[in-house]
Amino acid sequence: MQKKKLVVLSGAGISAESGISTFRDANGLWEGHDVMEVASPEGWRKNRALVLEFYNQRRKNVIEAQPNVGHLLLAELEKTFDVHIITQNVDDLHERAGSTNVLHLHGEIRKCRSSANPNLVYEMDSWQLKEGEKCPLGSQLRPHIIWFGEDVPLMEIAVELTAIADVFLVIGTSLLVYPAAGLLHYASSHIPKFLIDPKPASVSGVENLTIIPKGGADGMEELINILSNLNL
Ligand code: APR
Repeated sequence: MQKKKLVVLSGAGISAESGISTFRDANGLWEGHDVMEVASPEGWRKNRALVLEFYNQRRKNVIEAQPNVGHLLLAELEKTFDVHIITQNVDDLHERAGSTNVLHLHGEIRKCRSSANPNLVYEMDSWQLKEGEKCPLGSQLRPHIIWFGEDVPLMEIAVELTAIADVFLVIGTSLLVYPAAGLLHYASSHIPKFLIDPKPASVSGVENLTIIPKGGADGMEELINILSNLNL
C-alpha cells in the first residue's frame, strides 16, 4: 500500500536542542548582529568581510553540532510515511539525521555560490569562506543563503508539496517570516495538521490543527503516538 504523504515545515526550533540558537529567542539579534547587516544584499555590499565571518562562525557551529532526537524521530517516520521536509533552516541536521527529502527554502550554509550567478552552487569542504575565493566567472563566492529581500525560488515546489499532503506538520517555527509562514494555508482543510512548539505561534483560520506545546523531541514522541492511532 502506498505510504501517506507527511509534509513538514521546520524552523530553527527543531535545531535548538542541537545547540543552534534560534533567531527570535535572541531578542532580534543574531550572534549580536542586526539581521540586515549580515543577512541582506545591502549588508553584503556594505561589509562583505563581516558577512563572510558571520556565516563562517555559524557554519562552524553547524559542523560541530549533532542532530537531536527531534531530527532523528522525523527521519524514522520515513519508514511509515512518505516524508517531505520543507525547512527554513540552513543547517544540514535533517540530512545528517537520515531524512532523505529535504527542501531548503532559505538556502544551505554548507554550500556557497557565485555572487554573479545564483545557479552556480558549490559544496564547501571547509568551514571558512574567504575574501578572494572566486567562482569560475571571477566573482566572489558568497554563502548559499537566501537573504532578506531575495527571492525564495523553491517556494513553488513547497506549495505544490503542501497542497498534496495527507498530514501536515509545523515544527519549531514562529511562523513570522513569509512566504514560508504562509505554507500552512496551502494544506487542504480536511487533512490533520499539527504544530509542535513550546511557545506555539497563534494560528487562525486553519481547520483540523492540533497544537502540541512541547519541544522538538517530546513533541515528536507525542505526535508519533497520535499518528499511530489515526486511521489515515
Ligand atoms: N523545540 C521546538 N521548538 C522550539 C524549541 C525547541 N526546543 N525552542 C524554541 N522553539 C521555537 C520557538 O518557540 C519559536 O517559535 O522555535 C521557534 C523559532 O522561531 P524563530 O527563531 O523565529 O525561527 P524561524 O521561525 O525558523 O525563523 C524563520 O526567519 O530569521 C529568519 O531566515 C531566518 O529561517 C529563518 C526565518
